[in-house]
Amino acid sequence: MDNSTLKSIAQRLMADNKGLLAMDESIPTCNKRFAELGIPQTEEYRRKYRDLIVNTQGLGEYLSGAILFDETIKQSTTDGTLFIDILKRNGIIPGIKVDEGAIPMAGFPGEKITEGLDGLHERLKAYYDMGARFAKWRAVITIGDDIPSTACIKANAYTLARYAILCQETGLVPIVEPEVVMNGNHSLAQCASVTTEVLHAVFNALYQQRVELEGMILKPNMILPGEDSTEKPSLDEVAEATIKCFLRTVPATVPGIAFLSGGQSAQLASERLNRMHTHFGDIMPWALTFSFSRAIQQPALELWQGKDENIAAAQQALLHRAACNSAAKMGQYTAAMETVSQP
Ligand code: G3H
Repeated sequence: MDNSTLKSIAQRLMADNKGLLAMDESIPTCNKRFAELGIPQTEEYRRKYRDLIVNTQGLGEYLSGAILFDETIKQSTTDGTLFIDILKRNGIIPGIKVDEGAIPMAGFPGEKITEGLDGLHERLKAYYDMGARFAKWRAVITIGDDIPSTACIKANAYTLARYAILCQETGLVPIVEPEVVMNGNHSLAQCASVTTEVLHAVFNALYQQRVELEGMILKPNMILPGEDSTEKPSLDEVAEATIKCFLRTVPATVPGIAFLSGGQSAQLASERLNRMHTHFGDIMPWALTFSFSRAIQQPALELWQGKDENIAAAQQALLHRAACNSAAKMGQYTAAMETVSQP
């Protein structure tokens, strides 16, 4: 394991005005999003969609990295150029989702554990040889009656930490994603309390498994009420609760935090990231950016609808969301960007 290389990749992923694009939807998740819009759920349509994304001119101005899925890292454009090579040419570091999904956790109704440790070392080596330089593993924590249990939090923290040290041994920067999901009617305060407990458990496990914090990135949820809650927190309340939670739990040696969007609207995700920078930018010890999937891709996917004649409009929407989030990372996003400043 070369720590200086890991550290330098992590720093490049978090540099300047840039963030990450998660385009690592599993086949079932991608098909579900296609089905909602009447797009055919075939390998060729998934390939066409990812082709549209990687060939969006100018994305490299806003993105430092893109997270791919096993199917996508092996796919190419119609002229045979691998997607991963197009990303690299545009200065975007390719990453890979390596978990095998969250399944119901035996003995703990309503909770999930993420699978994928078996054979992981060999898979990581293969992805490294294909050109990936970072990886992602997502754990799912649900808030509900009497959950999350300590057992679920500990089991997911342990698997995240084992995944992370295996990544580092292979030369890949691990993105550690413990997502406290928005499902349910919990309050913002409950989300803050559970996320705090989860992050303490995750960093404890990372320490026990000897993960180099300088060579990893945390991918957490923002502190938000559940999607069925009637609570409507202000931008200030979300920004303050989120940064307070991270200041208490995320060591200053972690180079960066890159948010998942979790089902927030695209505009709100930009506004909230921006507010964290405008109000707390000068006291944060780590870089803070985006690693969104839906909050970057959804408007583009809705415009595309699987039709070639819509590709240009979809690419413009994708670039626009990347530009908005890039501005938010600099604390320079304004609502006016949504109507005036299309890139
Ligand atoms: O694992 C989840 C993705 O990387 C982020 O997706 O931004 O739609 O929550 P999201």
